[in-house]
Amino acid sequence: MNKIVILLGENRTPGQSDSHKVAVLIKDRLHKKDADIQIDLVSLSGFRIDMCTGCESCRRTGECTIQDDLADLKKIVLDADHIMIVSPIYADHIPGVLKNFIDRISYWMPIMNLLGRTTSSIVVASSAGQIYASGYLERTFQRFGTIHVRSFEISVDTPPMLLEKHAAEMDMLTDDFVDKVSLSLTHDFPLEDLDEQFLSFNRYKEIYALPEAQDFFGNTWKTSPALQHNSFLDAFQCQRMKKMDVISKG
Ligand SMILES: Cc1cc2nc3c(=O)[nH]c(=O)nc-3n(C[C@H](O)[C@H](O)[C@H](O)COP(=O)(O)O)c2cc1C
Repeated sequence: MNKIVILLGENRTPGQSDSHKVAVLIKDRLHKKDADIQIDLVSLSGFRIDMCTGCESCRRTGECTIQDDLADLKKIVLDADHIMIVSPIYADHIPGVLKNFIDRISYWMPIMNLLGRTTSSIVVASSAGQIYASGYLERTFQRFGTIHVRSFEISVDTPPMLLEKHAAEMDMLTDDFVDKVSLSLTHDFPLEDLDEQFLSFNRYKEIYALPEAQDFFGNTWKTSPALQHNSFLDAFQCQRMKKMDVISKG
């Protein structure tokens, strides 16, 4: 069974936030398309995620020294075929709770630890600022080795008159988002716009294949079966076929 995890960046009472309502709507539409997908809503604010202290222990050992709930979240994310971020906009960007989470797993970037998975994002704002967060989420998850299939930006304070005017368009965009996400779980999904991932893969491979690269990143690049491939696409497909066989649990 394919698994989607919806990571929520909300910080209000869970269930009452605008972004949570959007996530539930998308979850329902996805289930209408395919009742067999397992979809879990995970609110990051329900976990204790301390701030990264920059100790760089993860670079050396692949493990974070902070004792909080991050290990549970890492398992949830690594267990998913598709990771969807649904978040409100705070001051033109993602809220701190989501940024904290991304900072804490950022040592997964140089080993592209989410290879083989697809991602999508929805950002919800009163009126503005979604574009920065959308671009950031897309690029960041590509650096983790995923293929980002869709970004969706929603404004909640659109006047009712305009909502009515754009209802059909909104419905079409929602359908398109749901279609892209569900297609990304199949073998037919188009593998395109992968320049960012190819560049990251080649750059990391060159650096961490050097014999002197003996830290966690160097060791992972020299031993992970998926990372022995010579192109991002081959590595992605190798990892996708093996599904839950992770590059690093760290
Ligand atoms: C601290 C804070 C900062 C915000 N900054 C912005 C902003 O920069 N641009 C905007 O359009 N809306 C902003 N908003 C409004 C929220 O993005 C908007 O109400 C959104 O629907 C909230 O989603 P939520 O209910 O899931 O938290 C902000 C709200 C808060 C609480």
